[in-house]
Amino acid sequence: MNKYDKFNLNTGIIGILGHPIKHSYSPLMHNIAFELNRLNYIFLPFDVPQNSLKDAVKGMLALGFKGFNITLPHKEAIIQHLKNVSEEASMVGAVNTVVNDNGVLYGYNTDVAGIYETLLPYKEDISGKPISIIGSGGASRSVIYTIIRYFKPGKVNIINRNLQKAESLKEYFSAKMHFNNLHSYELYPPDLRDVLKTSKLIVNTTSVGMYPNVDDSVITEYEHFSKEQIVFDLIYNPVKTKLLMLAEAAGAECLDGLKMFVHQGAKAFQLWTGQEMPVDKILKTLRLYISTD
Ligand code: ATR
Repeated sequence: MNKYDKFNLNTGIIGILGHPIKHSYSPLMHNIAFELNRLNYIFLPFDVPQNSLKDAVKGMLALGFKGFNITLPHKEAIIQHLKNVSEEASMVGAVNTVVNDNGVLYGYNTDVAGIYETLLPYKEDISGKPISIIGSGGASRSVIYTIIRYFKPGKVNIINRNLQKAESLKEYFSAKMHFNNLHSYELYPPDLRDVLKTSKLIVNTTSVGMYPNVDDSVITEYEHFSKEQIVFDLIYNPVKTKLLMLAEAAGAECLDGLKMFVHQGAKAFQLWTGQEMPVDKILKTLRLYISTD
C-alpha cells in the first residue's frame, strides 16, 4: 500500500460531532493511535449545530461510520437518536461515545473511565473524605457519578455559579444513587473558604481557564487551597491552568485534564476497534504537542 491509496472502501470512519469543534484534540489523538496500531481507520471532526444533529446521525448511518464521539452541546440530545444506552451513560445522563453495530447505534459514557483512571491512584486518600466539585454541567455529572460510584466519599459539595443547577444535581444524584451526603453551594469563594479548605479533593469541571482565557480561574486566591489537598482540573488546554498554578503555590497535589482526556479516548478506541490504545505513548506525544501548539 502506498500513501496515496491509504484510505479506501475498507477504511473505518469515526467522527466527532460538536459545536464549536475547532479546538478538539480528539482527531489528533485517535489518528496517531490508528497509525501506531496500524489500523485502517480515520477520525474526522464535524461542526454540527444543535438543530442539525438528527440529520448528521442519519448521514453517518447512511455512510456506514463505525462510530463517533459527541461533545458539547449534544451529549444529552444524542440519547433520543440511539437504540441502546449503557447503564452508566443513562445514570450520568450524557453520552460521549457511539458505536454503530451494523446500523444499530449504542451509546456509552467513556468520560467516567477517564475520571476513574485519573483518580484511581488517590482512592485511599479520597475515601470517607469531603469532596468539592465546581460546575453543574455534563462534565460535573460524570465526576459526581464516578466519585460516588467508585470512590466512597464522605461528603460531596456541588458548587456552581447558578445555585439552582447545583441543587437539581444534588436532588438527582441523591435519589438515583441513594447517596445522602450531597450539598449545594453558590460559587462565591469568599463564603466557601471552609468548604474548600476542608475538602480533600477539589475538581473543576467548568470551562473557566480554558484556552484562550488562560488567565481566568474559578478560584482566584491560593489561600483557598492547602498542601493536604488534591486539585483536579478537567481542562487539558492549557495543561497547567491558572487554577492549578494557584493550587500548586499552596503545595496541593495537582492533576491536569490530559490523563482523563486520553483515557476517555482509550475506552472509546477500544469500543470502536476492539484494540488497546497505546496510552502512555499518546499521553507523552499530546503533552509535548499541546505545550508547543
Ligand atoms: P460541560 O458539559 O462541559 O460541563 P456545560 O454544560 O456548558 O459544559 O457546563 C458548564 C459549567 O461551567 C456550568 O456549571 C457553568 O455554570 P452555570 O451553570 O452557572 O452556567 C460553569 N461556568 C461556565 N462559565 C463560567 C464562569 N465564567 N464562571 C463560573 N462558572 C462558569
